[in-house]
Amino acid sequence: MIRISAAALGIAAILAAGSAYAQDDLVAAGEKVYKQCHACHSVGEGAKNRVGPEQNNLFGRVAGSLPDFRYSDAMKSAGENGLVWTEKSLHEYLKNPRAYVPKTKMIFAGLKKPEDIDAVIAYLKTFDTDGMPDPDASTYTPPNG
Ligand code: HEC
Repeated sequence: MIRISAAALGIAAILAAGSAYAQDDLVAAGEKVYKQCHACHSVGEGAKNRVGPEQNNLFGRVAGSLPDFRYSDAMKSAGENGLVWTEKSLHEYLKNPRAYVPKTKMIFAGLKKPEDIDAVIAYLKTFDTDGMPDPDASTYTPPNG
């Protein structure tokens, strides 16, 4: 009995360590993908609106709602019609921004690889507190497939 539960604990510890490592990898991969966004966006301490709005505390933000950024009418009405940035809506948007929000002024073709979208979401989720990077704040688990 004792041997069995010790073995079970060992496996649980390995699984936990394994997933934490994968999460760190995902965030690191996302930081690289974010270079494509960085041409227009900033995130982290002191992030400012640039060509695109700053991206701290993005998750849960109503689309087009930062008071000091001049959004397209398309993005503002998307928010008025209920679009909120979540893992799910960002997945759809980043696949093809102009298909998801027609006439958005975000001129970006989209990320073709779902794993790049997963990674950039995990990365952006580390800035959900006060703009200070906190890898542990990212609790994103990509859907399988
Ligand atoms: C060429 C410049 C450009 C690039 C590159 C770009 N964006 Fe944008 N982004 C914008 C602009 C401009 C807007 C405002 C869109 C509007 O008002 O229609 C925007 C809006 C957004 C919004 C909506 C934010 C809000 O406050 O509602 C999100 C989310 C977003 N971008 C994510 C990204 C991510 C993630 C990437 C990289 C994968 C990226 N963008 C790449 C210019 C860009």
